[in-house]
Formats: sequence, structure tokens, C-alpha cells
Amino acid sequence: MPAAVELTGVEFAYEPGRIVLAGVSLAITPGEFVAIAGPNGGGKTTLVRLVLGLERPGQGEVLLFGEPAHRSSRRSAIAYLPQRAGLRVDAPATVREVVAAGRLPTGGLGGLMGPLRRRERAIVAGAIARVGLSDHADAPVRTLSGGQQQRAFIAKALAAEPSLLVLDEPTTGVDTESQEALAALLDQLHRELAVTVLYISHEFGAVEQFVERLVLVRGGIVFDGPPASLPGIWHDPSHAHA
Ligand SMILES: Nc1ncnc2c1ncn2[C@@H]1O[C@H](COP(=O)(O)OP(=O)(O)OP(=O)(O)O)[C@@H](O)[C@H]1O
Ligand SMILES: [Mg+2]
Repeated sequence: MPAAVELTGVEFAYEPGRIVLAGVSLAITPGEFVAIAGPNGGGKTTLVRLVLGLERPGQGEVLLFGEPAHRSSRRSAIAYLPQRAGLRVDAPATVREVVAAGRLPTGGLGGLMGPLRRRERAIVAGAIARVGLSDHADAPVRTLSGGQQQRAFIAKALAAEPSLLVLDEPTTGVDTESQEALAALLDQLHRELAVTVLYISHEFGAVEQFVERLVLVRGGIVFDGPPASLPGIWHDPSHAHA
């Protein structure tokens, strides 16, 4: 079985001479729950964009399920929640409509206007139930709290029945309690659906107890291992944000 994600000797720069990531090698096995952390500007989002084939490395190779990421046939198996995805939701769309849009990449939905087929409706309702929003399914997303909105977008990602779920800073602007609830939810999804989870955050306190692996990114990979073996210096916030 190929790795879900495999980077080998990757170097990347947006502009010539300004290298953002260097010497990145990383393999993620299907079913792993990995936290990617590091300071602002460390290169986390860039790493994710390389993994998703949205950027191409200057050097090295990026594989998704064994295929070059930029022309992977498995793109529809990946659900990506981009950084700041949930902000400024002022459209009148309901939770159910937003989550149903998550079915579009699968080709399962015959357009939002048409009646959803029974199976499609069940998948959408199931994803909403998983994130605990059944009571809000027909509420406009903009009427939900920030944490509930995050959950709605996670339900949208889940509706695509992904084998790889990538969340970039899903808890920005969300309180500690909601961060911990989200971490527990991801842990549950990871265990019950065997989905591979890449959870990006510059803070990893909330997921630390759940993840088997923490990758710290700061111009490259500066740590890769179980959170428990993280050198003490990285726990120092002043260092992490330097
Ligand atoms: N589109 C872009 N064009 C040029 N430079 C960019 C672009 N996107 C990011 N960068 C630069 O690349 C570096 C890494 O940025 P990146 O967004 O990957 O960091 P990050 O770890 O995700 O940070 P944050 O925690 O703030 O989200 C930064 O120096 C940033 O200025
Ligand atoms: Mg980022």
C-alpha cells in the first residue's frame, strides 16, 4: 500500500532566491492522525499546498497515494479545509446546503437545485449528525457561533467521504473548549472512519493528547515524532512564535 502522502527532498520557493521550505522528507501512512505545527510563516500552509498539488516543488517529489500530487487521480478522495475557510459567512445558505455542496466533487449530487437523491440526503444528514449539528441543520450558517460554523465546514469536508482530511488552522478564533471538542471529534472520526487526518495549527495543545505524531515546520521539518518526545524548548511559546 503506498503512503497517503510522501515528500522526498522537497525544496520550494514562491520567488527565486527566497526559499520557504528546504530538505523536506515526510511519509504519512494511510490512517495516521498527524498534527503539523510551527510558527507563523514557518511554511505549514505551503507544505499543505504542495501535498495537495496546488504548488509544485522546485526540487524533490510529492506523491499522493503513490501518484505525483499535481496530477493525482485521487484528488476527489481528499477533503481540504483551507485556512480561514469559515470566516465571513454571510450567504443565506443553511448548514444542510453547505454540507451538501461537499458532495459536488464526488459527482454524487445532481446539482444543488435538483432534489437530492435519498442516498445523498442520508450522507449529508450523517455528516451533520457526526459533528453534532442536527438541531441546526436548517439554520443559516451565519446564525451559528464560530465554533459551530467550523463544525459545519468539517461536515462539508466529511460529506465527500474522504480518505485524507486536511484542515489548515481550523480553530482560528475559536475558544479553547471548542478547540478541544474539535480535537476530540477528529480523533473519533479518525478511529471510526480510518480517515487519514492532517491537522495544521500553530498551536498543538488541543490535539497533543490525540495525535500519535507531531511534525514541526519552520523552513523545513525541525521535529517529527510523538508529542511526548518533543524537546522542552519547543513547548516554550516565545520560541514557537519567534
Ligand atoms: N503566495 C505567496 N507568495 C509569496 N510568498 C508567500 C506566499 N504564501 C506564503 N508566502 C511566504 O512563505 C512563507 C511561509 O508561509 P506559509 O503561509 O506557508 O506559513 P504558515 O506556517 O502557514 O504560517 P501561518 O501560521 O501564519 O498560517 C512566509 O514567509 C510567507 O510570507
Ligand atoms: Mg498557514
